[in-house]
Amino acid sequence: MSRREKIYEGKAKILYKGPKPGTLVQYFKDDATAFNAQKKATLNGKGVLNNRISEHIMVKLADIGIPTHFIKRLNMREQLIKEVEIIPLEVICRNVAAGSICKMLGLEEGSALPRSIIEFCYKKDELNDPLVAEEHILAFGWASSAEIDEMTALTLRINDFLCGLFEGIGIQLVDFKIEFGRYTDENGDQMILLADEISPDSCRLWDSVTKKKLDKDRFRHDLGDVVDAYTEVATRLGILKQNPGTPPKLSIVSNEDE
Ligand code: TMP
Repeated sequence: MSRREKIYEGKAKILYKGPKPGTLVQYFKDDATAFNAQKKATLNGKGVLNNRISEHIMVKLADIGIPTHFIKRLNMREQLIKEVEIIPLEVICRNVAAGSICKMLGLEEGSALPRSIIEFCYKKDELNDPLVAEEHILAFGWASSAEIDEMTALTLRINDFLCGLFEGIGIQLVDFKIEFGRYTDENGDQMILLADEISPDSCRLWDSVTKKKLDKDRFRHDLGDVVDAYTEVATRLGILKQNPGTPPKLSIVSNEDE
């Protein structure tokens, strides 16, 4: 891993040059940050869990025809991905009021939204990733009108699918953040791919019955048991083996190439 050429290091992941042109290796760190890195910690095992959870979700999304950057998982912390040009927008989809929308619109956490809401934030740490309108995106050229339409359509399909996937394991998908990238395939065709990750770092996931938070809000708001909550998500998704009598720690199902 350390022999690879590092392309980029973010708060929770590192990108290395991949084995073939047009590929990268995405490494999941145990580092967690919140509030634009004002709060930092290392959560042992988080990277392993997010690698597995994101793989599981990306593979299922590809099965229903969502184009993603994911190629294959390489080991416990790394996956091979297609190299894309990241569109500098965070696309947020909300089903239930939580987080910044509560503050912005004076909503009560957990209150129903009239329908699923999609928001775009400009990816710029120095500015705290501000919420922007389509007007800003077009005027500053961060994405074209066709790209905005494509990202919106894909996000709604991803939301529909993930709501069902999580509902089936007793989890409510409150909201999530995704990122897209531009990719040119071997025939020279250009397309938009789902990139980055989908994990409890980038979603709000509540137990459907108890409303217990099973996501990064446990870290953001010092609720404790962060890795246990991520482990719970992975276990319910069927990624982790549950050993009777012992807490479901990091014994991974089908780790053939670790
Ligand atoms: P927000 O309510 O704080 O705007 O967050 C909306 C969703 O986006 C939530 O699922 C958490 C996720 N998110 C990220 O993945 N990265 C971030 O930097 C922020 C602020 C939120």
